[in-house]
Amino acid sequence: MIKIATTTERLILRSWRLSDRDEFVRHLNTPNVMRWLGGVQDRATASAAFERIDGFERDFGHTFWIVERKDDRAHLAGEMLGFCGIKRVNAAGTEMAGQHEVGWRLREDAWGHGYAKEAATASLALAFGRFAAPHVVALTVEGNDASRRLMERLGLSRRADLDFTDPRFGPELNPAIVYRIERDEWLV
Ligand SMILES: CC(C)(COP(=O)(O)OP(=O)(O)OC[C@H]1O[C@@H](n2cnc3c(N)ncnc32)[C@H](O)[C@@H]1OP(=O)(O)O)[C@@H](O)C(=O)NCCC(=O)NCCS
Repeated sequence: MIKIATTTERLILRSWRLSDRDEFVRHLNTPNVMRWLGGVQDRATASAAFERIDGFERDFGHTFWIVERKDDRAHLAGEMLGFCGIKRVNAAGTEMAGQHEVGWRLREDAWGHGYAKEAATASLALAFGRFAAPHVVALTVEGNDASRRLMERLGLSRRADLDFTDPRFGPELNPAIVYRIERDEWLV
């Protein structure tokens, strides 16, 4: 059964169906979307990521959920926009493993409408509410202006003391840079 994690004014965040995987690859495995994520993925890499996404939902009840639009009058109505949600840090090379991590990836024709901010705000509310996170981190790289700006707009603070080298990637995707928000900063 597909679980709705939460809804916002314009969006639905829901758990994955198996059939979402092909659609996700079709819309999101593109050079522009993947620019700061290691580039377009081969099938095996994408499949491993889908398995991890399912694993977070199974083990913790939260993951990077599918984001869909509610409004069937809109251009992308009912279509998958991408994912957004809360997983646990699984990057190599950091002691933050297991901490709550907010993240997002939207298809390019959905950028610039405030969807990521709307979905991420709802995700953080779940992290601090239903999932009782003490704090939430977000990871990116220096060049990813869109993500860094979004982290700042969501109220996360830059934590250079937590930056690390992710051995899975080369120098163009390192260091991994860290933002973080504390529970009491979110709840004020
Ligand atoms: C990051 C991403 C999800 C942003 O999606 P989006 O729906 O366009 O973001 P929003 O419209 O909600 O914008 C949120 C804020 O970021 C800003 N922003 C968005 N894109 C930006 C860009 N390219 N450069 C600078 N700021 C940007 C917006 O202006 C907004 O800030 P504001 O409220 O001050 O105007 C989208 O660009 C994406 O999917 N990128 C590829 C995948 C990726 O890199 N994921 C993150 C890995 S860490």
